Amino acid sequence: MPVYLTDHNTGSKISVDTRQMISRAEQLLTLCQASDQNLSILLVDDEEMTTMNSRYRGKNVPTNVLSFPFLDGADASLSALPVKELGDIIISIDTAQREAVAYRQTLSTRITWLLTHGLLHLMGYDHERSAEDATLMEEKEAELLSCIHPVRSKHMTHLAINVDHIATIRQARGTDEPDPITAAALCELAGAAGIVVHLREDRRHIQDRDVRLLRQTVKTKLNLEMGAAKEIIEIALDVKPDMVTLVPEKRQELTTEGGLNVTGQKKKLAGVIEQMGNAGIPVSLFIDPDLKQIRAAQDIGATFVEIHTGKYCDATSEGEREQEFQLIAAAAGDAFQRGLHVNAGHGLDYRTTSRIAALEAIEELSIGHAVIARAAYIGLERAVREMFAIIQAASLG
Ligand code: PXP
Repeated sequence: MPVYLTDHNTGSKISVDTRQMISRAEQLLTLCQASDQNLSILLVDDEEMTTMNSRYRGKNVPTNVLSFPFLDGADASLSALPVKELGDIIISIDTAQREAVAYRQTLSTRITWLLTHGLLHLMGYDHERSAEDATLMEEKEAELLSCIHPVRSKHMTHLAINVDHIATIRQARGTDEPDPITAAALCELAGAAGIVVHLREDRRHIQDRDVRLLRQTVKTKLNLEMGAAKEIIEIALDVKPDMVTLVPEKRQELTTEGGLNVTGQKKKLAGVIEQMGNAGIPVSLFIDPDLKQIRAAQDIGATFVEIHTGKYCDATSEGEREQEFQLIAAAAGDAFQRGLHVNAGHGLDYRTTSRIAALEAIEELSIGHAVIARAAYIGLERAVREMFAIIQAASLG
């Protein structure tokens, strides 16, 4: 499946990793079962793109990508040629760079999207034909992009420990032990890269005092999980954690049940993101592995999404677990390609964590109950170290 790449953009200050582009194009051809076809890619600047756009589409402006299927309008005898040509994709690096900045993506992520988009046009997809065709093409794009390896420089997936349940034990007696502040320090000593606490409106475990003290003592990163309630927002703005994770919160639930419905409350959540942004606090949205929610999170300016792993962990059959895993993998890949930072968590334990930690798009896992439960038997430091080792093996392996 030769991919021919011609770079007319060599004089530009914008550098493009052409080897990576060719490898991406080859992966895409394989995923589209078109690996027996030749593909040509041409990289141009805006000036050359404008010339082409004007000549072939009558539009005297630059565009991001143009696709020319080889057999489009060609003599039928050409399809009998022994070499199969798919066609040409032309990408303007200037436009790709502008779009990458606008969408807060890396240039490489943007170019991969343009390549995928261009390739689908060559294969007959056309978002301009109808709304249904547009959805079809968008879904196919998301599916392909989720299968392409993210390009983050290889780092270990981080472990953030949720210490809510240390506070749950303390609150059961109404005393001051065990203290989540001490627990957080032990978790950090054992390798945790972050501490998570959920300040619930009913204050069933973490108290205001805990959040304020943790702000002073946490040496890694303090992630405040919270509902989008006015009182809690004010506390967050005052305490200034390193980030906040917005979750849906119901008084009757035992633990956070589902992901946020971002699509249904974009305005409200965008308002909270803006308030936090003004205070320099990045926001993560806790969402189900659902592409619509990811798009909505990106639209309203979230910095992170945390993908809910609960259904994967609670699956009662291998088939169901596999299905949930694939949803998480696709969602994480899609969010990453859109330039979002991707965390995951909920229900992860010593058996279910490894596979999730191996997903390259995921930066951090937020784990609480399993580690605190194991700590009751073997001690907190050991329980954290064991989870840390699982994540290290999976993400570096
Ligand atoms: N992430 C979020 C958003 C959560 O609400 C919770 C539970 O507090 C977790 C992660 C951790 O879940 P678990 O305690 O099941 O590990």
